[in-house]
Amino acid sequence: MSHPEVFETVAGVQARLDAVRATGASVGFVPTMGYLHEGHASLIDAAVAADDLTVVSIFVNPLQFAPDEDLTEYPRDFEADLACCGEHGADLVFHPSVSEVYPEGAGEPVVVGAVGGPLEGASRPSHFAGVATVVSRLFRIIGCCRAYLGEKDFQQMAVVRRMAADLGLPVEVVGCPIVREADGLALSSRNVYLEPGERRQAPVLHRALLAGAEALATGVVDPGVVVAVMEAVLNEAPDLVLDYAAVVDPDTFVVPEGIAGGTRIRLLVAGRLGHTRLIDNVGATAP
Ligand code: PAJ
Repeated sequence: MSHPEVFETVAGVQARLDAVRATGASVGFVPTMGYLHEGHASLIDAAVAADDLTVVSIFVNPLQFAPDEDLTEYPRDFEADLACCGEHGADLVFHPSVSEVYPEGAGEPVVVGAVGGPLEGASRPSHFAGVATVVSRLFRIIGCCRAYLGEKDFQQMAVVRRMAADLGLPVEVVGCPIVREADGLALSSRNVYLEPGERRQAPVLHRALLAGAEALATGVVDPGVVVAVMEAVLNEAPDLVLDYAAVVDPDTFVVPEGIAGGTRIRLLVAGRLGHTRLIDNVGATAP
């Protein structure tokens, strides 16, 4: 196990990265809000495998939480996170304070394009502007790199990709597959909030997505029918308050009129079990 170097200042991490890049080394970057689990670790593994130097940022970004969301309760364990980074071979950990990331206050948020409009964008109106703002700042701090993001937050990945392109940042966004528990629940830092009864119901999201993908595989071409199949499964969980079940084009997030053979689509679901908001998604291609 290696011991990552920890930087708390922008100047410190930049000086180190400038020196590394001067040797021709490539940089892999994994942005996180900490409380790391095997999903985050899979991103670190991907960066370590492809890049010469791996940086993990750990920063709970106040801008992406609405006033009624869980900013103050968001789980934190820096020592465990550092151990996880070391076990997976990360070289640097960037762990800034809020004032280091936002020295002049939050300022104007980065404008999010159309991919951030529906679904999560509709349910959490200021969320993606907060994500795009912090990730643009982090990308500017880290500089030329490959950035590893999880498909767990599939729409976030699209928003970040679009933001990097719009701002002309020298960052290639690499999408990584979702890591799940044995029963299908996607790993999430927020899963610790689930009460035992809620945890037992939580795999219903993945089951619904698989049922939707199966409907598609057996020839259903109407997105509304695929959504109805998913909703029927989601209704099996008595405590789930459904936010959305949706079928969209994976690039534009627009609902297709019909699903022609060979078309790639993304099935996405979100809902609340008690106080915990859960999201999940799978990809599929129409036969
Ligand atoms: P966080 O929720 O900590 O997630 C950090 C990264 O880990 C994201 O790219 C997310 O998609 C990925 N991830 C989370 N759970 C995963 C799983 N089960 N399998 C694969 N990848 C998973 O997402 C954020 O933080 C923030 O919004 C951030 C991008 C850091 C901006 O503040």
